[in-house]
Amino acid sequence: MQNVLVTGTGRPYALGFNLVRRYLEHGDNVFASIRRPSEALEALRQEWPDRLHILTMDISSTPSVNAAAQAAAALAPCMDLIVNNATTASDQTLNELPDFDLDLVAPAVNVGAVGPIRVLKAFLPLLRQSETVALVVNISSEAGSIGRCYRTNYLDYGTEKAALNMLTMTMCNYFRDDPRLNIFCVHPGWIRTNPDDPRAPLLPYEHAETLRQLFEQKRFDKTGPRFITYTGEAYPW
Ligand SMILES: NC(=O)c1ccc[n+]([C@@H]2O[C@H](COP(=O)([O-])OP(=O)(O)OC[C@H]3O[C@@H](n4cnc5c(N)ncnc54)[C@H](OP(=O)(O)O)[C@@H]3O)[C@@H](O)[C@H]2O)c1
Repeated sequence: MQNVLVTGTGRPYALGFNLVRRYLEHGDNVFASIRRPSEALEALRQEWPDRLHILTMDISSTPSVNAAAQAAAALAPCMDLIVNNATTASDQTLNELPDFDLDLVAPAVNVGAVGPIRVLKAFLPLLRQSETVALVVNISSEAGSIGRCYRTNYLDYGTEKAALNMLTMTMCNYFRDDPRLNIFCVHPGWIRTNPDDPRAPLLPYEHAETLRQLFEQKRFDKTGPRFITYTGEAYPW
């Protein structure tokens, strides 16, 4: 049984919530973070009262993230895995330059790129107590690949994911000689997390298990590609 933190877990149809379900079903002790109350997560806690801990954490706020890390430390001696899943995109994200308010980019970067590293920094003392190789997985996106960029929109979302990739690689360099901490980022695939859009081929609950297994396969791999797809292959930065 490991201690797992998943961020951004309040929406029952989205990836974070379904990762929480999969880790619980696998027997792990799960810390699920939300920024506002979630009925769905509350109902899940009724089902798993001993192993599901709900943390309130706004990843755009350093005090909020630090407080959540303190709350987790009061409940568990270590953290073995962090899945930085929470992200944001403005309601203008599909717009192109003339119809996009550029002042929306910096707040998105603060959430989607700086947020995961804020979480890593605040939870580092707990990660350091892990008895296995502590793993940090940053959920990125193909939209953050500069090499494969083809869009003319996603000015906020694409930028925050590209910045997340850069911060992930910088952290990989920082922890390179530390055999007890591993970190990579992943493009999780196109998942049906918008109930109004049935085009996405991957179903959240089913796909959460694929990702859970991938993360375990890669836990001890510190030398392979640092930006991978959900099939484990390298994706271009
Ligand atoms: N769905 C896909 O096809 C796809 C494709 C590529 C990559 N991804 C990535 O996979 C991950 C999950 O995707 P998804 O579609 O399931 O995401 P989602 O439905 O957009 O959920 C994002 C979560 O992040 C939370 N969040 C937003 N701002 C936050 C903040 N400041 N602090 C804390 N939490 C915050 C949201 O909370 P609230 O519920 O309170 O708003 C929400 O629970 C994301 O990183 C996404 O970029 C998804």
